Amino acid sequence: MAVSFSTRAVLFSNLILAPAAAQFTGSAACAECHQPQWAAQKRSAHSYALSRRADVWSFGAGRQASTPVSRLDPDHYLEHGLSQYTRSNSKALTPGHTSPTGVKYRVFDPGAQILRCFQCHSTGKLAFTREFGIQPAELGVQCEACHGPGADHNQLLRPKMLNPAGLNDLCGACHRQPPKPGEDVNWQDPWNVRHQPVSLSQSACFQKGNLSCTTCHDPHSGDVKSTCASCHPTVTHKTKITTQSCESCHMPKVAAGSHLTFSNHWIGVYAPRKPLLPLPRSKGAAGPTAR
Ligand code: HEC
Ligand code: HEC
Ligand code: HEC
Ligand code: HEC
Ligand code: HEC
Ligand code: HEC
Ligand code: HEC
Repeated sequence: MAVSFSTRAVLFSNLILAPAAAQFTGSAACAECHQPQWAAQKRSAHSYALSRRADVWSFGAGRQASTPVSRLDPDHYLEHGLSQYTRSNSKALTPGHTSPTGVKYRVFDPGAQILRCFQCHSTGKLAFTREFGIQPAELGVQCEACHGPGADHNQLLRPKMLNPAGLNDLCGACHRQPPKPGEDVNWQDPWNVRHQPVSLSQSACFQKGNLSCTTCHDPHSGDVKSTCASCHPTVTHKTKITTQSCESCHMPKVAAGSHLTFSNHWIGVYAPRKPLLPLPRSKGAAGPTAR
């Protein structure tokens, strides 16, 4: 897919291109002492964000889609024009592509696009084979993608020390950072819903409630653990809410293209069948029981 990069990608390069002395050990080295985190992580989509069969790399764990990438010639990689979509169990155009022929990337392009694909979908430092083939250290998003190089245990990032904004930055390194003040976001483009930190940053829950990604997601399995009730224990609705979940109305699903669906992390009040942008907040909205 066509990926554009914000200047905030700097944070990301700091995370991955860690100090020269820092050594990555691979997640297997963490397993013996951190079994619960390891087991949860191994059933997450993160763990399978990149795989390889023979000469074809497969990007995406297949929860929604996977896109093949292969080496075309010594200088180029090809992002295939057809991706495999899980829900429809069919092949169709890769997001952002206009033909099935695929998109060619130079390995040493100044924009480093193909290298960036591998960086976000793997862990540790990228290396090159003797023939300049891209060689990730560990496939998928594993322990050290978030905790940093693990050879010196004292140097590990301990996310418990981070405040909610810091946690969102950690996840935003790959899921995209929230817009900087004054930065324009096209809220009519459903593709932006794919960048959860961007949407979440607009929510009153985040702005007034100090919400982070890990308030709702287990960072290791990715599962949604708890959500609304911790801050909104009792809500009196004018609307009849029957048996629907809170998220179905306040974090509605958005179709990005015909094959992908994302949950709108801009938590708000939505009009029926208008899942992109919430209704404007009424001045002095009671926010009935939000603490
Ligand atoms: C030999 C056992 C051992 C290995 C191997 C090990 N750890 Fe730990 N880890 C511990 C112990 C014991 C603690 C608790 C004491 C402390 O905080 O240092 C801990 C604490 C942590 C914490 C902080 C927990 C908190 O409460 O904030 C993180 C994060 C962590 N380890 C990640 C890792 C990662 C990632 C790896 C692999 C690169 C790893 N550990 C390898 C034993 C280990
Ligand atoms: C090193 C890059 C990277 C970082 C850092 C990262 N993610 Fe991800 N995340 C990914 C990729 C790549 C996928 C897509 C996996 C796939 O192929 O479906 C993903 C998918 C997910 C999913 C979807 C899982 C599913 O079952 O479909 C959740 C939830 C998620 N990430 C949450 C988080 C949270 C929370 C954090 C921060 C604690 C975080 N991520 C940090 C790269 C990252
Ligand atoms: C800045 C980090 C980053 C870069 C660069 C990146 N990805 Fe991803 N990729 C992600 C994250 C995060 C997700 C999870 C999106 C979600 O589910 O919300 C993801 C998901 C995917 C998926 C699963 C389908 C989907 O949309 O969820 C595929 C396939 C994929 N990426 C392929 C690629 C390819 C090919 C490239 C290079 C052209 C690339 N990615 C570059 C972070 C990145
Ligand atoms: C997507 C980012 C991400 C990945 C990948 C990841 N962690 Fe964590 N880890 C976190 C966050 C965020 C926390 C803090 C959770 C909290 O504050 O509740 C955490 C907390 C921990 C802790 C402290 C105890 C706990 O569970 O809160 C340990 C130990 C740990 N991680 C080890 C690991 C190991 C081992 C791996 C690989 C198997 C791993 N982590 C992979 C983000 C990640
Ligand atoms: C208020 C709770 C909440 C918060 C906070 C939250 N999420 Fe989610 N997230 C959800 C729910 C609910 C889903 C939908 C799960 C499902 O459909 O099974 C979801 C789905 C996702 C997915 C799968 C793709 C999609 O969009 O449906 C990703 C990736 C993700 N979240 C990442 C993040 C990241 C990164 C953050 C922090 C910026 C975050 N989430 C904060 C509740 C939350
Ligand atoms: C960490 C606490 C926290 C969590 C978790 C949380 N919220 Fe909120 N939420 C708040 C706060 C604080 C406000 C602002 C209330 C105010 O303005 O008085 C708010 C506001 C709202 C609003 C009003 C938004 C608007 O734009 O008018 C809605 C709707 C809402 N929350 C729904 C939810 C739903 C649904 C969930 C679960 C998916 C959730 N919240 C999770 C703290 C939270
Ligand atoms: C059928 C859709 C629907 C469901 C399900 C739903 N809500 Fe709402 N919610 C609304 C609408 C519409 C409003 C606007 C005012 C009203 O009807 O009370 C609203 C208003 C709110 C507000 C106040 C926003 C303000 O004006 O300040 C909060 C907080 C909230 N909902 C939280 C929740 C929580 C928590 C759940 C799950 C227990 C939930 N909602 C379930 C549709 C829904």
